[in-house]
Amino acid sequence: MIKIAPSILSADFARLGADIDSIVTADYLHFDVMDGIFVPNISVGIPVLQSVRKYTEMTLDVHLMIDRPIRYVDQFAAAGADIINLHVEADSEENTLAAIKRIRELGKTAAVTIKPKTPASAFEPFIEQCGLVLLMTVEPGFGGQSFMEDMMPKVEATRAYIEKHGLDCEVEVDGGINPTTAVTAINAGANVLVAGSDVFKAEDRAARIAQLRNAR
Ligand code: DX5
Ligand code: ZN
Repeated sequence: MIKIAPSILSADFARLGADIDSIVTADYLHFDVMDGIFVPNISVGIPVLQSVRKYTEMTLDVHLMIDRPIRYVDQFAAAGADIINLHVEADSEENTLAAIKRIRELGKTAAVTIKPKTPASAFEPFIEQCGLVLLMTVEPGFGGQSFMEDMMPKVEATRAYIEKHGLDCEVEVDGGINPTTAVTAINAGANVLVAGSDVFKAEDRAARIAQLRNAR
């Protein structure tokens, strides 16, 4: 089943409740956290996540674009994250493994994310412990960029690895998703599509979510 994860980076933060209501038919709510160090931009963090958690029952897919995320895993879990995505580039392998272990102990889904220049093989030390892996299809930091189609061989390789090893792991892509690029990503083996600007710009967001989910 294809899942759609609207990114609230493209929402109006002064009307966040209404914007969440407008995308409630989606599968996950994608929550982008940026620290101005791991990526050259700053977004929202723990207090906003707490408010969102109180407001909605949606599965909260938290994408931590922050340096050494192990420092904040407990706080994001306590604030209501369901899925916690860590960048493999953000810390040592040892610390990433420890963070994943901690996320699982806290009863949350662990996920690892790779930037466009990172090879898919970077997932290998972690993927067995993860319920989801996320491949960036733009350089992380900003919404509204163009989809990098040349990431598709990595999506294919990741899907093939999961099948070969019989793993229970979702494959998510993030950045530049629209009804055209959704087809490309799905055909390459992605089953969770993050979409920020495309969903929030749409006049009928529920219809857009359905269109992306059924893109073939
Ligand atoms: C980028 C973020 C994305 C972003 C996607 O760093 O991780 O989640 O919001 O935005 P669009 O769909 O507009 O490319
Ligand atoms: Zn994201």
